Amino acid sequence: MGILDGKVAIVTGASSGIGRAAALLFVREGAKVVVTARRVAELDALAAEIGRRGGEAVALAGDIADESIARALAETAIARFGGLDIALNNAGQLGETAAAHDISLPGWRETVEVNLTSAFACAKYQLPAMLARGGGSIVFTSTIVGSEVGLPGMAAYAASKAGLVGLARVIAAEYGAQGIRANAMLVGGTDTPMGRNAAPTPDAYAFVESLHALKRIAAPEEIAQAALFLASEASSFVTGAAMPVDGGVPICRT
Ligand SMILES: NC(=O)c1ccc[n+]([C@@H]2O[C@H](COP(=O)([O-])OP(=O)(O)OC[C@H]3O[C@@H](n4cnc5c(N)ncnc54)[C@H](OP(=O)(O)O)[C@@H]3O)[C@@H](O)[C@H]2O)c1
Repeated sequence: MGILDGKVAIVTGASSGIGRAAALLFVREGAKVVVTARRVAELDALAAEIGRRGGEAVALAGDIADESIARALAETAIARFGGLDIALNNAGQLGETAAAHDISLPGWRETVEVNLTSAFACAKYQLPAMLARGGGSIVFTSTIVGSEVGLPGMAAYAASKAGLVGLARVIAAEYGAQGIRANAMLVGGTDTPMGRNAAPTPDAYAFVESLHALKRIAAPEEIAQAALFLASEASSFVTGAAMPVDGGVPICRT
């Protein structure tokens, strides 16, 4: 018995890091999953791993900035598993990092496209599927950057990710009466390929660790647990929240 028994979930950005950990956890808790990312080999390996563990997954590879992928994800959940209850819109990239006046407009646009517009497109197709089901839970992977702290060099990333909080709040208000909840996670430093990329040297890594009250960064599985909480009925009265999963970054002054 798992807390997601009988549920169907979409997880974007599932080829590594937080999305991969969340997909595995959701399946362990009883969900069937539709997983997506660009890297076909990693995605297929995840689906195979889920199969070996006795779960069910469909892998759909593609660029999340492509609207047809957003639509196909919801259609696949319905066609293969009969409906959709949960979405973890998690795919994201750091994008172009530089002082604000040095970020190119194409770089800015690409970051907003991948991190924010794609999440909107996913939700746009997830919502009708959830309405047909009588409810659901949408979770967006946002970050401390932009909502809690301003980290130099990350203007495009911060703006795109803070936008997810606004998106979650409006969806929560619009669809709450119909049983759909929407929340964002404000994620702190996490040990994933992106996390390593954002802090590539030992000094940079130690600096990022020092920002957290816990004086370490998270394992992706710890963030997956927060996503499970928001995805499941355990959070049945939580909606429109920007939930810190941040190891205490905003309260830390040491
Ligand atoms: N790591 C951190 O410190 C941290 C902190 C706060 C928030 N976050 C957020 O957590 C989320 C997951 O990141 P992660 O830390 O788990 O890093 P990750 O392992 O690099 O995962 C990023 C995921 O997003 C997918 N992705 C990126 N661009 C894509 C695109 N254009 N189309 C489709 N998929 C795309 C990647 O898959 P492919 O490369 O295979 O396409 C990958 O599965 C991101 O939204 C990130 O902003 C991370």
